[in-house]
Amino acid sequence: MQILVIGTGYVGLVVGACLAETGNDVVCADIDAQKIADLQNNILPIYEPGLEELVRRNQEQGRLRFSTDSATAAATAEVVFLAVGTPPGEDGSADLRHVLAAAETVGKNLRRETVVITKSTVPVGTAKKVSDCLARHARVPFHVCSNPEFLKEGAAVEDFMRPDRVVLGVETDFARSVLAELYAPFVRTGKPILFMDIASAELTKYAANAMLATRISFMNELALLCERVGADVDNVRRGVGSDARIGSSFLFPGPGYGGSCFPKDVKALLATAGDNDVPLRVVAAVHQANERQKHVMYDRLVAALDGDVKGTRVAVWGLAFKPQTDDMRESPALTLIEALLAAGADVVAHDPVAMTHAQKVLGDRITYAATSYDAVEGADALAVVTDWNEYRHPDFERVRGALARPIVVDGRNLYQPRKMEALGFEYHSIGRPLGGRPAAQTVA
Ligand code: UDX
Repeated sequence: MQILVIGTGYVGLVVGACLAETGNDVVCADIDAQKIADLQNNILPIYEPGLEELVRRNQEQGRLRFSTDSATAAATAEVVFLAVGTPPGEDGSADLRHVLAAAETVGKNLRRETVVITKSTVPVGTAKKVSDCLARHARVPFHVCSNPEFLKEGAAVEDFMRPDRVVLGVETDFARSVLAELYAPFVRTGKPILFMDIASAELTKYAANAMLATRISFMNELALLCERVGADVDNVRRGVGSDARIGSSFLFPGPGYGGSCFPKDVKALLATAGDNDVPLRVVAAVHQANERQKHVMYDRLVAALDGDVKGTRVAVWGLAFKPQTDDMRESPALTLIEALLAAGADVVAHDPVAMTHAQKVLGDRITYAATSYDAVEGADALAVVTDWNEYRHPDFERVRGALARPIVVDGRNLYQPRKMEALGFEYHSIGRPLGGRPAAQTVA
């Protein structure tokens, strides 16, 4: 199939590369000429496991092309994906300018009956706006569909290639049969393609992200309660998650959720709810709880450093909002670092892949360490913000020897409290017993 993907961000790039991999002829277009030139040379704007190889192979084999000219590609495309950014506006609602600009270009250049898909996460009603825009410009029949993407950063290729489900909001038989054929290679394992009306498809993406964010905020708050009552959130998490109705994923407490999706989509869903006079009280509380949670690590550091971090040096392990990505968007590390800097602390940070991106955001206001051990050298405390594998089993003796004070604030519960205390650390984590109090008896 001839496919045009407009927007080479996370979603567009993954969609384009994966659809080329299944034999389609794909053009990925973007208005950013530098980005396109880099992609033509297999230089990716993001770090994503497996993606570079996929882009390289499919470019070499001629199935994947990068271009700034979406107009020409629109003329021959059978399927167009709109995968441009939807940044939050001032009130949290998604800004549709890029989506509608792309739709206008497509509309003006369509030359054959085409399926046009909104792939960006867009509020309910966007497909209608895209359809109206196309109708103003197109001279051939078109079919607007909503096809939300559920990929996770760090596992994007895997998620696209083997999705739990494909959600397709379609309103014509033509679109239904084209998309069933396009997605057939990805659902061979028996996972469903869920055809539905467009509004439901649009809302499904927000509902899924808000539900996952709810689980995290729920556990983050419970973790704080665990600390007060002497319970261990690890045990509670296992006990709760073993109920098949609940399931065990996305119940890990931490420094607050971040990334390009959860914070933005929770706010956008609240904006849609507000516009429609339907208060989503639970979702509003999820957002509030997360804002609070993003300060927990800072509060813990202040307490551990005798009430004042001014003049101290704090090592931070992990800058990306989660492992396997260099994405810094809404990372809890940024909230922590900004608070530390504002209070007069020095920050020395390490991250396996996100330091270049971090430098763009934080500049020279912090020091970047070449290794995790360099970061802790002479620091008064270590804050572990991102659960990268390389932080899971460090040489603890070396870390303790390097720290000026043996304080560790672990936002990801990577280490065992009793072991850390035995090693001579003052160890703080999230929702687990502190200060040598025994953890509850558990059978692993
Ligand atoms: C998310 C959704 O998972 C994906 O389906 C959607 O398409 C886009 O948004 P992503 O933002 O890449 O994907 O990251 P995800 O792995 O979901 O993590 C989001 C945040 O939640 C991270 O900050 C992560 O650290 C945090 N998290 C996740 C927790 O704090 N606890 C958990 O148990 C799981």
